[in-house]
Amino acid sequence: MSELLKLSDIHFAYPAGPLVLCGASFSLFEGERLCIGGHNGAGKSTLLQVIVGLLRPLSGNILAFGSERSEEKDFFEVRRRAGLVFQDPDDQLFCPTVAEDIAFGPLNLGKSRDEAMAIVDDVLQRLDLTGFRDRITHKLSGGEKRLVTLAAVLAMQPDVLLLDEPTNALDVENKARLKDILLSLPQAMILVSHDHRFRDELATRTVTMIDGQLLEREPRCAAGREAD
Ligand SMILES: Nc1ncnc2c1ncn2[C@@H]1O[C@H](COP(=O)(O)OP(=O)(O)OP(=O)(O)O)[C@@H](O)[C@H]1O
Ligand SMILES: [Mg+2]
Repeated sequence: MSELLKLSDIHFAYPAGPLVLCGASFSLFEGERLCIGGHNGAGKSTLLQVIVGLLRPLSGNILAFGSERSEEKDFFEVRRRAGLVFQDPDDQLFCPTVAEDIAFGPLNLGKSRDEAMAIVDDVLQRLDLTGFRDRITHKLSGGEKRLVTLAAVLAMQPDVLLLDEPTNALDVENKARLKDILLSLPQAMILVSHDHRFRDELATRTVTMIDGQLLEREPRCAAGREAD
């Protein structure tokens, strides 16, 4: 099984802040759905942004798609091949309409306008979102925006999906649909989620962010239930 991502001993702090990541290490292999749990503020979203080079660690090594990545130019390919769905859809959607938001990635990858629009229609159809095609993005509901961010990332046909709280704001029906969509995808993925049931249904492996590190166990409180 080939190793897609390997982060080793990552340390990270926001400016003038304490260490958020303190020796975080993990690998992601082809075909895996790695779920990451952990308390609010544990550093999960920070870690996803470190993987794609939006945040630069103080120390540690990032190996992505077979190459060491350290400088900004190294991360161009990582951002193309690892599609990050942000925790907050408003960090991701910035075009006037849904179609333009989804077309943005493919156009940026050099697709023609016609090719990009064909991808938009295909992705919208796969996610059963065709009716949203010409809607004004900022007028969508929270759950609708969440689904559009997933569409925008899938449109880039990434090799790896990095999904930060993908079930946020989704109703039961859409959550079930999202689960089926993710299970049907061939890509390896990292799923950050507080939703235990969703994690259990999708995870091929689960780790927990504790004290800035990823541990191969789930936090449990005295009653034997997960604490996060
Ligand atoms: N831009 C920032 N500047 C300073 N501190 C930040 C910034 N973003 C996050 N933090 C802090 O870094 C820590 C980790 O935040 P992060 O968002 O990675 O946590 P998380 O595990 O994703 O939490 P949640 O489950 O609530 O989404 C928190 O203490 C947070 O307050
Ligand atoms: Mg987060």
